[in-house]
Amino acid sequence: MLKKMFLALAALATAARAQPVPDPDKQAAALVKQMTPAERNLLLHSYFSRQNNVRSAPLPGAPWAAGFTPAIPRLGIPMLAQTDASLGVAWISGRRAKDATALPSSLALAATWDVKIAYAGSAAIALDARASGLNTLLAGGVDLTREPRNGRNFEYLGEDPLLAGVLAGETIRAIQDQHVLSTVKHYALNAQETLQNVLPVTIDEAAARESDLLAFEIAIERGNPGSVMCAYNHFNGPFACGSDFLLNKVLKQDWNYPGFVMSDWGATHATSDAINGLDVESGQEFDPQVYFAAPLAALDGKDAAYTARISDMNQRILRAMIAVHLLEDPPKIGVPDIARGEAAARAEAAAGTVLLKNNAILPLLKTAKRIAVIGGYANIGVMSGGGSSQVAPQSGPALAVPTQGDGGEWMAQVLMPGAPVKAIQARLAKDARVSFDNGAYLSTAMAKARDAEVAIVFATQWTSEGMDVPDLGLPNHQDELIAAVAAANPRTIVVLETGGPVLMPWLDKVPAVLEAWYPGIKGAEAIADILFGDVNPSGRLPITFPASLDQTPRPHLDGWLEDPAKAKVSYDIEGSDVGYRWYDRKGLTPLFPFGFGLSYASFRYDDLQIRSEGNTIHASFTVTNTGTRAGRDTPQVYVTARGGRRGQRLIGWGNVDLAPGATTRVTVDADPRLLADWSIPRHRWAVPAGRYDVTVNSSAATPLLNGSTGLEARLLAP
Ligand code: BGC
Repeated sequence: MLKKMFLALAALATAARAQPVPDPDKQAAALVKQMTPAERNLLLHSYFSRQNNVRSAPLPGAPWAAGFTPAIPRLGIPMLAQTDASLGVAWISGRRAKDATALPSSLALAATWDVKIAYAGSAAIALDARASGLNTLLAGGVDLTREPRNGRNFEYLGEDPLLAGVLAGETIRAIQDQHVLSTVKHYALNAQETLQNVLPVTIDEAAARESDLLAFEIAIERGNPGSVMCAYNHFNGPFACGSDFLLNKVLKQDWNYPGFVMSDWGATHATSDAINGLDVESGQEFDPQVYFAAPLAALDGKDAAYTARISDMNQRILRAMIAVHLLEDPPKIGVPDIARGEAAARAEAAAGTVLLKNNAILPLLKTAKRIAVIGGYANIGVMSGGGSSQVAPQSGPALAVPTQGDGGEWMAQVLMPGAPVKAIQARLAKDARVSFDNGAYLSTAMAKARDAEVAIVFATQWTSEGMDVPDLGLPNHQDELIAAVAAANPRTIVVLETGGPVLMPWLDKVPAVLEAWYPGIKGAEAIADILFGDVNPSGRLPITFPASLDQTPRPHLDGWLEDPAKAKVSYDIEGSDVGYRWYDRKGLTPLFPFGFGLSYASFRYDDLQIRSEGNTIHASFTVTNTGTRAGRDTPQVYVTARGGRRGQRLIGWGNVDLAPGATTRVTVDADPRLLADWSIPRHRWAVPAGRYDVTVNSSAATPLLNGSTGLEARLLAP
């Protein structure tokens, strides 16, 4: 069944509409020439949704969207109707899609390490957007996980620039192949929510280029997003959306980016941001005054620098719209194909679930007679993350618990429909009993657990845009609950639905742990697929799970309960050694390392061959399934020393599906930028000369093969 599903999803890729548009720059230039002075201002500032539009009169025909700019019918330019969606067409603030696929969190996607799954899910949500009449998805979140407490980690793709960049690029490509424009966001270093609107972020330029900026660079090269959304925070001085360095120098000059930069909502701070490279003031109602409407229009034709910029801003916006076919293929409101979206969501959730521990208890037998399911609202649905990315099917969430004083949807704890209890029951014989206890009282939870062959505790950690979590403990005393249930029944399995990493003080008391993240609309089914072995787990952690906050670069969360005027964050502590690279540098043993994940099969790696060629390294090796079940493995290749200097960097990975006993060869070609350092004086990537050590690993902390080769010194253009 699952194989069929994957084939259907693969067909999505080939059915893509992508045909390159001939010379979008020329077509855009012709349109810019025809614009009247008033039209030259229309595309440069976007409105918030009709319902919430407090500052300006609603425009006729304006959609309920996160943002929109009006159409210019005379020139055949359509409205830009923008909705959030890294995980699906967003649902909050009166913005309801026709119907929308709720994909698993982006971190779950990252745990698949699989470009095909990334493509299928994003193509499906882009088609949902079209069916709702929307032509822009505010997708492509790629900020690296520098802060495990960040409330938006679930919207991003983990801590490695290659993994995050490749997957973000693929999601963007998939969206735009459906003729829906995508962003990549939030550019850059938007790594925490605490004081995010004002937080001064500092980082050495070379470290930024080798980490977060590299993730953006890779995503942009692979996906060609029509737009880059700049971030709320400051970046080495100015706000990111007014940063000449980030927008003009790096993005537009070094990377030759032809599209447009839109601000995050409320992240424009001055009309002069236009000169620093910002092309669109988004959600203008969020700003204390509208900077890119009248004030910018007043400078058009009067100030040469602004006049040139305004032409360029329009050129960039139109060029992007033309390249993504928005002019000739407008979305048609219709009925989304729910089955298609759900198939993509289920495949992603199953492939992204990470089996963290298994002492011979999983997979469960379908002949089990008494299973106790405890906690985590498992009788209702599965957890999702809050904020602008919130998706729910049109029928609404299974449960939405407001967390704010106004009781609104913006930061509600939303449970996706699909109850794990039901999905578990459905795998068992009719006379099997699946009992549920909500976990409120330890004594009743323990009694239910004692009375069962197996207890499954569902533990949830809700996280949201707009807030970080104060620590890495499970909230609501769930650690106590797990320990109590495990004491009552040693056959206790823990299923985690979390936004990011959590601590597990009870780990040695339970025989099995699954990390299911926020698993989306088919999450319950996907969890049951893994528990009962209908799918062999293959997820690998895209982030390190620390053993304690003391291991992280910033045990204290900058800005937490601090005077905003004094708060600041320096990413120079870890520099470009984000995540596993930091643990490697410091010789720390985390709770679970980056790249870790178990399977019901087992794999062996052999015959590593490494050769250097020009400025790169090719590694190849074999993988054999030594287990008794078919399964997927994700062997990872790291460089561990460059030119004799130690330091770990992921340079590639394989996704191999193997029958028991089968062997295949995996080849990885390193992106030379991952072998290089950024040289500020030379303004080039510098590949150091000397010996390069390479390992093939089952996780960042588990090297299984090693070899080395040599490279000559080289300089590479940005
Ligand atoms: C978020 C963006 C989002 C925008 C529009 C902001 O609060 O940071 O990610 O795209 O809102 O909803």
